[in-house]
Amino acid sequence: MKDSRRLSTRAIHVAEGAAPGARPLTTPIYETSTFVFDSAADLEAHVADGDGGATYMYSRYANPTLSSLEAKLASIEEGEAALVFGSGMGAVSSTLVGLLSAGDHVVCSASIYGGTLHLLQTLLGRFGVTTTFVHHEESRDPRAAFTAQTEVFWFESPTNPTLRCVDIARVAEACRAAGVTSVIDNTFATPCNQQPLTLGVDLVMHSLTKYINGHSDVTAGAIVGDRARIDAIRGARKLLGTMLDPAAGFAVSRGLKTLEVRMARHNANAMAVAEALQQVEGVAAVYYPGLPSHPDHAIAARQMRGFGGMVTVDLAGGFEAARRAYDRLQVFQRAASLGGVESLCSLPVLTSQAGWSDAQLAQAGVTRGMLRLSVGLEDPADLVDDLRQALA
Ligand SMILES: Cc1ncc(COP(=O)(O)O)c(C=O)c1O
Repeated sequence: MKDSRRLSTRAIHVAEGAAPGARPLTTPIYETSTFVFDSAADLEAHVADGDGGATYMYSRYANPTLSSLEAKLASIEEGEAALVFGSGMGAVSSTLVGLLSAGDHVVCSASIYGGTLHLLQTLLGRFGVTTTFVHHEESRDPRAAFTAQTEVFWFESPTNPTLRCVDIARVAEACRAAGVTSVIDNTFATPCNQQPLTLGVDLVMHSLTKYINGHSDVTAGAIVGDRARIDAIRGARKLLGTMLDPAAGFAVSRGLKTLEVRMARHNANAMAVAEALQQVEGVAAVYYPGLPSHPDHAIAARQMRGFGGMVTVDLAGGFEAARRAYDRLQVFQRAASLGGVESLCSLPVLTSQAGWSDAQLAQAGVTRGMLRLSVGLEDPADLVDDLRQALA
């Protein structure tokens, strides 16, 4: 009798793998955990080449769909190399673990994404890494906070949620002179509006979850910079298991293709919303770096090509007023996160700054009356009308 099990196994092997002759326009999703070698010599050559090379062994280390995305991200940020991760926090944690050892010191702006703050303060603190948080004004020139053990300065510009900016070239120069690695979270600006590596920063981090993917359907992160640092972080990614899934990487690559046109609309819509909000009664302050009234407008205008899609409004009536307006919104969706097609509104004290002490909030310039708006791609008139009725 024929051995049907052996026959079917062989049939599956024949159909598996590459499709010679097919030249896809887009990089396919390499939905495979492992890669096949023809010989021990091929395996030896791969091991000699390392995980960032042209051949592949295992998708936790590297995968062609993700290498394609990494090459695109390195190109748009003008870096030597890039790595992608399963979330922005995967990028933050792998970067810090890749660069730091017990006894090292980090200086970090206090106006920073809450997850990054908690990671440094609680988790990394348990492993012997100490952090000094500096007020926004000090982060303009962080040298006073540096010690002989300082390895990393971590900052954002524009910051979350007050959109404060620092002179990035000046910060980068101060860090370089002190031998400290500068890392900027460029999630809010995007490489369309700001390219920090060209201003001298060592590493650029992104939550790709936001504008770069742009459709609120994936979580992903990235780090871009020089090859030596990226290789150190690649080692941490491999051991921490923070690699991105290839299907999610494909979605981010697709989102990236429309980043420039989306950002042009985000920039224009946010400017329209910010200008309109300035005229609304009960609004104590509007934070948008494109407004001449913003304290860092001059810096932003010098180093940014556009001012981004984030607008924060501080209401005179405090938390109760913010809560009431939040509940009345009809076009803006009540949701955390940012950077997608749909306009979103969040209450920073309950989302990105949740659990912060009054002192931490004050240090970051965050109030309980703030609403943070991620201005989407809808008709700007609809967005302005929605905000006017919610704040009325
Ligand atoms: C500025 C900034 N950095 C980092 C992160 C973390 O990214 P993720 O949620 O993709 O882990 C976020 C998420 O909200 C963010 O807003």
